[in-house]
Amino acid sequence: MRQRAPTLPVDDDIQKSVRLLKEGRLVAFPTETVYGLGADAENPDAIRRIFKVKGRPSSHPLIVHVAHRSWLPKLGSWVPPSAERLAEAFWPGPLTLVVSRGARVPLVVTGGQATVAIRVPNHPLALRLLEEFGGGVAAPSANRFGAVSPTSADHVRLDLGADVDHVLDGGSCEVGVESTIVDVSRDSVVLLRPGGISLEALESVLGTPVRVETESPVRTPGQLPSHYAPRARVVLAKARDLPAELAALRAEGARVGALIPLEIERPGADIELVVAGGAEAFARTLYASLRALDAERVDVILVVPPPAHGVGVAVTDRLLRAAAPRSPST
Ligand code: TXA
Ligand code: MG
Repeated sequence: MRQRAPTLPVDDDIQKSVRLLKEGRLVAFPTETVYGLGADAENPDAIRRIFKVKGRPSSHPLIVHVAHRSWLPKLGSWVPPSAERLAEAFWPGPLTLVVSRGARVPLVVTGGQATVAIRVPNHPLALRLLEEFGGGVAAPSANRFGAVSPTSADHVRLDLGADVDHVLDGGSCEVGVESTIVDVSRDSVVLLRPGGISLEALESVLGTPVRVETESPVRTPGQLPSHYAPRARVVLAKARDLPAELAALRAEGARVGALIPLEIERPGADIELVVAGGAEAFARTLYASLRALDAERVDVILVVPPPAHGVGVAVTDRLLRAAAPRSPST
């Protein structure tokens, strides 16, 4: 599944990436969720360049990626037992923990906030890069602000071009949607963004309910209405409404692409992408599918999401945000 298109031998590629990070340059790297646009988390100038390249407001905090959970107390000022339990259960993996910020993390990384988001990604190249770099790598998804996240090295190159100093190619991402973000800095544990680890899995490890607060007052771009959006308009539909939705869009003269699970009867759209294998497969291929339909220059992407359990919750969340009304600037 992970097909690497090697340009350099892996060791040289890692060494080159480490050297560039140490020089304060930007290196895109693969994770199991999406590709990250990385910079040395302790170099404020390098971090400022990430915001500039992404076109992201500087108040929107970044995730710091590390090689091992032993970094939690080095980057956080206080690590509650719930954080230790979740890290032990899910790291390396698609879970980001928000803890109180330690003095070592520059404020520019956290958008001025008193908390810092930390994650150990589960990808062999990312882990080697982080181990050999020997510090935290701050990285948002390696796309321009508001656009679809990249799940292959080619997506990164197409989006960011020469604005990224190097792309470490680790093939396509296995999870395909971003990490679950959990805030453990408060009195109770709060889920801020659904992702690769389900709410049920978190609750079963903690043995307590987890509050869901996706409309948190904390400003996270993943919580803005229109985000993760392709160029085409996204319309969500239930399977039984698909023929009527398609007819209505056709009546408007729209060229329509459909993204649907295999179980659903094909509606006869201009372009149809059918996903077999349930919510996991839908997540893995979601962003590449949205990009492929954009490349076909459809006006509308009509989607029947997978059932909203497990990673299907994250897929539905991203699709709702992609379908949300757009501000004039996006
Ligand atoms: O899977 C992922 O999480 C990917 C890979 C590259 O690790 N990263 C990613 O980064 O999705 P980004 O920047 O696109 O989204 C990170 C989210 C943002 O919504 C940000 O606001 C939130 O994490 N975040 C970061 N620090 C935070 C904090 N201290 N408190 C609350 N939310 C925070
Ligand atoms: Mg992002």
